[in-house]
Amino acid sequence: MIVILRLGIIQYPKKISLSEKIFNEYFKKTNIDAIYEGININPKDFEFKIKDILNNYYGLNVTVPFKEMVFKYLDYANESAVFLGAINTIHNNIGYNTDWIGFYNSILNEKLDGNILVLGAGGTTKAVLYGLYKLGVDKITLINRTYEKAIKIKKLFYKKIDIKVLEFSKLNSEINNANIFINTTSIGMFNEKIPIKLHDNLNLVYDVIYFHTPLQKESESLGIKTINGENMWYHQAIQNLKIWNIYDENIFEKVYNNI
Ligand code: ATR
Repeated sequence: MIVILRLGIIQYPKKISLSEKIFNEYFKKTNIDAIYEGININPKDFEFKIKDILNNYYGLNVTVPFKEMVFKYLDYANESAVFLGAINTIHNNIGYNTDWIGFYNSILNEKLDGNILVLGAGGTTKAVLYGLYKLGVDKITLINRTYEKAIKIKKLFYKKIDIKVLEFSKLNSEINNANIFINTTSIGMFNEKIPIKLHDNLNLVYDVIYFHTPLQKESESLGIKTINGENMWYHQAIQNLKIWNIYDENIFEKVYNNI
């Protein structure tokens, strides 16, 4: 009997994800008998369908809006998933969060000295701050359009990172005190510009957006080291393959570079 490993991404609405393209190409090149498919569920059907999906798939990714909903159907969630309140990877009925590891590994070799200014207060922000915490950062400034959400994050990270929260209107002046700027919002996905003017004393600009945004273009034009979401995605995907016990470093790198 031929056993084909079934993997997939639980998502809504339906879309062709980058994971689907790359993982399927990777399976071809590694001769792993596996498929990775989009599993599209309407959120209202989630509770009826999730148990069957968990039983029938070898490995899963989970996207918004299911990252929190899936907890109660699993046997266990690891420490970071519990802290972040979000699961994005599943294997053997155990939930993991690999978003923060993607960020962590993408910034591992950078010097994180000086003042760090983070923009945003969403799910991605939590993953980024958890990564910074694991890298030993103990102090940052946080700004978000909705001030209260930034305060919630400050409370979540109590005793982990000392977070100074400022109003959104302070963004453009506060950037002048920053050595590192990290955008964790979705601004730039559709070519929108963050209302700031960068300066060339910044050592690093990190933008979680996968595309080449106005922020990244401005940062590059000033000669500032610029990292974008592609890097975070790459390291997160590696972590997923490791959890599913099917990671081959050389082949994954080749497939990724050729897509
Ligand atoms: P994700 O899970 O991808 O982080 P999210 O939890 O919805 O998504 O968070 C989106 C983040 O982008 C939030 O910080 C949001 O600001 P608000 O908390 O004020 O909503 C931020 N964001 C999105 N569009 C924005 C915009 N046009 N201007 C400023 N902030 C924006």
